[in-house]
Amino acid sequence: MEEQRESWGSKTGFILAAAGSAIGLGNIWKFPYIAGENGGASFVIVYLICIATIGLPVLIAEILIGRSGQRNPVGAFRKLSHSKFWAGVGGMGIVGGFLILSFYAIIAGWAIGYIVEAITGSFFDFVDPAASAEYFKDLVGNVYWILGYFILFMILTTVIVFAGVRKGIERGSKIMMPILFVLLIVLMVRGVTLDGAGKGLDFLWNPDWSKINANSILIALGHAFFTLSLGMGAMLTYGSYMSKKDNIVISAAQIVFLDTLIALIAGMAIFSSVFAAGLDPQAGPGLIFHTLPSVFIKMPGGYFFSIIFFILLTLAALTSSISLLEVVVSYFVDERKWKRHNAAIVLAFIITLLGVPSALSFNVLSDFKIFGLDFFALVDFLASNIMLPLGGLLISIFVAWIWGYDRVIPNLKEGAQNLFEKYPWIIVCWKIFLKYFSPILIFLVFLHSIGILDKIINLF
Ligand code: TRP
Repeated sequence: MEEQRESWGSKTGFILAAAGSAIGLGNIWKFPYIAGENGGASFVIVYLICIATIGLPVLIAEILIGRSGQRNPVGAFRKLSHSKFWAGVGGMGIVGGFLILSFYAIIAGWAIGYIVEAITGSFFDFVDPAASAEYFKDLVGNVYWILGYFILFMILTTVIVFAGVRKGIERGSKIMMPILFVLLIVLMVRGVTLDGAGKGLDFLWNPDWSKINANSILIALGHAFFTLSLGMGAMLTYGSYMSKKDNIVISAAQIVFLDTLIALIAGMAIFSSVFAAGLDPQAGPGLIFHTLPSVFIKMPGGYFFSIIFFILLTLAALTSSISLLEVVVSYFVDERKWKRHNAAIVLAFIITLLGVPSALSFNVLSDFKIFGLDFFALVDFLASNIMLPLGGLLISIFVAWIWGYDRVIPNLKEGAQNLFEKYPWIIVCWKIFLKYFSPILIFLVFLHSIGILDKIINLF
């Protein structure tokens, strides 16, 4: 007899866990800075279109593969396709899980480190963003600091995944997600009530179409993937713990809604504060670590709000990192028959080792470059720009072209009968988007990534 597969305790549990996976550093760290660099409001509109036309259909497809296959990415693809090639596509997702977590947890570690900096009041020494940038460089330049917080964050992630789907991931998400939401609202209210916040809101809501070009559209599309945790089987794995009584389409729409809402609120909180302090919204990846600390010291109650902000960032990262570790763990539990407890510890350990060179690329290994990229940037590039779009492309192709609609539709209808009877056009739209739009657009993102690679190689 096969052991009973773990499952979510409730529908809300699944939605909070999946929204937790989606909502992460992508929403609070990356979205604001790429929106800042690409013209604000016009970029936001393009991003929203990408989320609705590509993100949502692919999210439904991923959850559907997981729920129908009732396995980790490799097992689910193998069971549904009986083909080694497609099992290999699942395998790429497992590798992606290793790679993404190994660098994601480093940035998440900075967030924990910054909670401590906020509490000890370090930010009050910053006279300007340049001073705080200098300070940031010193921190990440310190091997012990960067490795210490990285390892601490990996331990937190491991503890939750160790405890299991229901007792760890679901319970953790049910506690952390509401706190995250409240903290973010507090920060947004603080931000928009500052003197001069209006310019920040204008930046986020008044489109400047001259800033939009092909490049920014592809960035928006790539980010739609990253922020919804698509392309490597994280949502597939979470979907494999979902009940056949639940409605995939509605759940996916709720996850997308929550993820987008949080990104927009984070954008409002950050841009209103940055503009109120008269600083530059185009600061790039350093926006929240360089610019924000010097914003906080200028605002009334800034000491308190800076602590809240970095706690928020840590929680958001944690509900995402557990989904990455869970992908890897589920593979070793399903396919290799490991015990969950051992799998969580051993795999987290391996991922931590894999992350060490990335962490060191901010200090002792900073001069070590492959194709002009340091180790951290290389792993990030491989995973986020190559594997995720490729995975997303193959997932859409599998569901739309290979699996067969006579199998896809009955599976999708489980738990959604009423919805489809009332609105049959939903299936039609989903089919069209998945069959034509997603593969073509994702393919373009992929080419774009290769183009970047090309440019880098041409440097030599
Ligand atoms: N979506 C998360 C974020 O925005 C990151 C993440 C978690 C992720 N799991 C993933 C990204 C799987 C890609 C694939 O921060």
